[in-house]
Amino acid sequence: MTLLYEGKAKRIFSTDKERQLRVEYKDEVTAGNGAKKDKMEGKGRLNNQITAIIFDYLAQHGIKSHFIKQLSETEQLVEAVTIIPLEVVVRNIATGSITKRLGFNKGHEFEAPLVEFFYKNDDLNDPLITDDHVKLLNIANDSEIETLKTMAKDINKVLIELMNEMDLRLVDFKIEFGKTSDGKILLADEISPDTCRIWDKHSDTNFDKDVYRNDTGSLIDTYTTFLNKLEELK
Ligand SMILES: Nc1ncnc2c1ncn2[C@@H]1O[C@H](COP(=O)(O)OP(=O)(O)O)[C@@H](O)[C@H]1O
Ligand SMILES: [Mg+2]
Repeated sequence: MTLLYEGKAKRIFSTDKERQLRVEYKDEVTAGNGAKKDKMEGKGRLNNQITAIIFDYLAQHGIKSHFIKQLSETEQLVEAVTIIPLEVVVRNIATGSITKRLGFNKGHEFEAPLVEFFYKNDDLNDPLITDDHVKLLNIANDSEIETLKTMAKDINKVLIELMNEMDLRLVDFKIEFGKTSDGKILLADEISPDTCRIWDKHSDTNFDKDVYRNDTGSLIDTYTTFLNKLEELK
């Protein structure tokens, strides 16, 4: 089947069904929009399995996503969508860019989850944009913006609960949405330690890509421990 798109972490292939795609998770890891880059054996398998478990869990809690089923250790079958070019970020606790941008201390707990839109455009370095920019760029209209925010907060609630069961704190995460051919908005892309920040409840340990960004530990060991915790829950 033909390769339709190759990104930093995944390859997207067509299938014999027009409305379905095959996603292959790669062993590449990047940070800072590709500024830092490495190959790590086993990383594709870990993120494929983690995303499959999380999308299944979300489905059981009423959240519709593009995920259909896992095909192999590194591949999954998904519904084809037109990706809405936004990185939708939900923050429960301040860390990373928001501490620099707005001066919050790392670890500050927000009273209510904060939803941010970043324009998914590598050439522009994925800038933070406002609702008015989203409309100006014809990315989404008012009602779609509301749908994205509501879905993002619903997903946050379910994920907080899931992390809680593993004695973990969901600090923040990035999701992408897409539109099906009949106009339905679905959660798409992936949810993995590449796209979330997850902290241990009782220690400073993180279970996410910050170990690679900040060179504080082994990414493969960290993701493996996280996958084991998810599998223990099942
Ligand atoms: N269901 C889907 N249909 C079409 N495209 C998708 C779907 N899910 C994810 N994508 C897109 O496929 C690409 C996945 O590859 P990835 O390596 O994460 O890319 P990137 O480097 O852009 O982050 C992303 O551009 C993502 O928006
Ligand atoms: Mg990506």
